[in-house]
Amino acid sequence: MLARIAVLVSGGGTNLQALLDAQRAGKLPHGEIVLVLSSKEGAYALERAQKAGVETKVLPRKEFVCQEDFDRELVGVLQEKQIDLVILAGFMTILGAAVIRAYPDRILNVHPALLPAFGGKGFYGLRVHEAVLAAGVNMTGATVHLVNEVPDGGRILLQKQVPVCEGDTPEILQKRVMEQAEWLLLPRAAEMLSEQIVKGTETK
Ligand code: GAR
Repeated sequence: MLARIAVLVSGGGTNLQALLDAQRAGKLPHGEIVLVLSSKEGAYALERAQKAGVETKVLPRKEFVCQEDFDRELVGVLQEKQIDLVILAGFMTILGAAVIRAYPDRILNVHPALLPAFGGKGFYGLRVHEAVLAAGVNMTGATVHLVNEVPDGGRILLQKQVPVCEGDTPEILQKRVMEQAEWLLLPRAAEMLSEQIVKGTETK
């Protein structure tokens, strides 16, 4: 048995690509990416999924009047596909309580900083790196954590430091954090949790 994985995306999908590459390279032996779901139409991540032969679905957040409606639809899709593990890979939509309750300790998120620093509401994408540079710190990194009701507040599974260098722009720093941390940590955490799910050894 393999853990059935859904990857939730909203944009370019380089973290999704890292997961797809890991799967192809045999580095995700306990999991299988069976669905890529985007909150935005036209997200490049969808093309990456299609190229890899993975089923895609678009659930445009802006077409839902309220959070509850979106959550209900999302949980419906995930349950219909018998998803065991949900991975947020650049998913720029907040998940409501119903989704978190349906998948307790089964939702992973990658965040482009060393949580709890530079996390929480308003810290996403390039904004995180802008804040890191504005603060003048010389070290940043990435975090993979479990998702609970507190934005970026769930249990931390993996972290990796990445240096901030002189002359960095938010874009340069983002690329370094992705290459040196995010793309390594996310597949590793996905395999870790998939193995625990398959073997029934998840730690609470
Ligand atoms: C990544 O840096 C990811 O850590 C970040 O958005 C980027 C998505 O890139 N996520 C967040 O900021 C979530 N709070 P990608 O679409 O190329 O994977």
